[in-house]
Amino acid sequence: MEIPKNLIFVIFGASGDLTSRKLIPALFSLRTQKMLPEKLAILGTGRTAYSDDEFRNKMITSIMTFSEGEEIERNQAEDFSQILHYLRMDNDNPLDYNKLNARICEINAALCRSANYIFHMATPPSVYAIISENLAKAGLADQSEGFRRFIIEKPFGYDIQSAIELNRKLHELLPEEQIYRIDHFLGKETVQNVLVTRFANGIFEPLWNRNYIHRVEITSAETIGVEGRGGYYDASGALRDMVQNHLLQMVGMTAMEPPSSLEPTAIRNEILKVFQSFQPIRKEDVPMQVIRGQYTGSTVKGECITGYRYENGVAPDSRTETYVAIKFFINNWRWGGVPFYIRTGKRMPTKVTEIVIHFKGSPHYLFQRVAGPNTSNQLIIRIQPDEGLLLKFDMKEPGSGFNTKNVNMDFHYRDLTDIRVPSAYERLLYDVMVGDSTLFSRDDIVETAWKFIDPIQKAWAEDPAIKVYGYPSGTWGPSNANDLIEGEDLTWRYPSKNLVDDGLYCEL
Ligand code: BG6
Repeated sequence: MEIPKNLIFVIFGASGDLTSRKLIPALFSLRTQKMLPEKLAILGTGRTAYSDDEFRNKMITSIMTFSEGEEIERNQAEDFSQILHYLRMDNDNPLDYNKLNARICEINAALCRSANYIFHMATPPSVYAIISENLAKAGLADQSEGFRRFIIEKPFGYDIQSAIELNRKLHELLPEEQIYRIDHFLGKETVQNVLVTRFANGIFEPLWNRNYIHRVEITSAETIGVEGRGGYYDASGALRDMVQNHLLQMVGMTAMEPPSSLEPTAIRNEILKVFQSFQPIRKEDVPMQVIRGQYTGSTVKGECITGYRYENGVAPDSRTETYVAIKFFINNWRWGGVPFYIRTGKRMPTKVTEIVIHFKGSPHYLFQRVAGPNTSNQLIIRIQPDEGLLLKFDMKEPGSGFNTKNVNMDFHYRDLTDIRVPSAYERLLYDVMVGDSTLFSRDDIVETAWKFIDPIQKAWAEDPAIKVYGYPSGTWGPSNANDLIEGEDLTWRYPSKNLVDDGLYCEL
């Protein structure tokens, strides 16, 4: 797949956070790596009125502030900003699309006259359908003079019905091949590395099943709170914001069967099969299988942290979850009976995303264990930060007798000193340009994920007796989540301790 020679990249919601923090820095980084089309123009649109120059200056600041990796010279960012343009428009006003069309034509005429177009919707989800419809009506989805690709951000809908409806509306306008549904976790190098770890090595796959695996745990914890996104978040919550998409995609990668090839369809088919095999959580089982929590105020290392209900845009009596932990099963031959535990939360002690494969203990343990439960072997796939892999196993403690100690063997991406791990958006935007849809979600996958989440949402909406547990900021969430884990003495893996109890802190 080749990078196109010319492209106009249109961003809806260009005055927003996503554009400043992720999209423009990612495009800039691609440019420094010479991974962009020779002839490229980026047109930002939004309600806020900016001149081209004002937009360029704002984006120069974004690049300088949010770019990852090596330090950037301001003149590099200034140079890049020359390909940026801006148009003030209303997403839901069809007439404004004539203005948009005219502006695109003008840029196209100056660029090459036959550009391909990408439309990236970095807007609230409520306007994805209307933008797509207006673009199609303005003739901007027609591919006779170059490709027209539509990038849709998450959340894709807010429940199963809205997701089906959104897919239906998009398909009235566009074939599936023109739609790229972003789940930026799939763009993370280490999430893709799950496939390589599993299918490039002969030693893991024979053990990767119900015979040898006791349980699978996936954690995605963040230290930040809602960071000025209270309005969006309070109507969404952790289940919609993180679980329906990012966490389930990681489950898909961990649990899928080997695909027949690396073709997008082959990989997506396997992910779909995993999602179709989820044992549905019945409404009456939600209190036993799903724990939700909300962060409260606390003092972390001397700093006062505001509780969720006091954040801007959040209702003072909000019951929105900022933490969720779920236990569930995958009903197929590989995974039957193996519990999967997934959890995510804001205002936790550290930022970490990891997949932990807990292998079964040895059938007859002969030795004297110094500490820890009887499941010595864990494979920890560290998605972020400190990307890498950790294998835990028992070794003999030097000295008399046969005392054992659990030790680590690890690999860190940072040790590959000449390799910079690209940001998820760099990878995904590049893939859209070359037309590779492997790392994007498909219509049926998104709907099947919602199908699994829906009974949980319904149970919470219909039964106010289901508790929302408060947890102090800087802790690992409600202790009730430990009760989900089956087995004596077993808990979640805690990569660092709680921060609120002084002295207990330890970094990853
Ligand atoms: C986003 C969520 O999709 O992912 C945010 O909307 C969350 O609430 C973010 O903070 C986490 O992504 P990352 O890449 O920082 O782990």
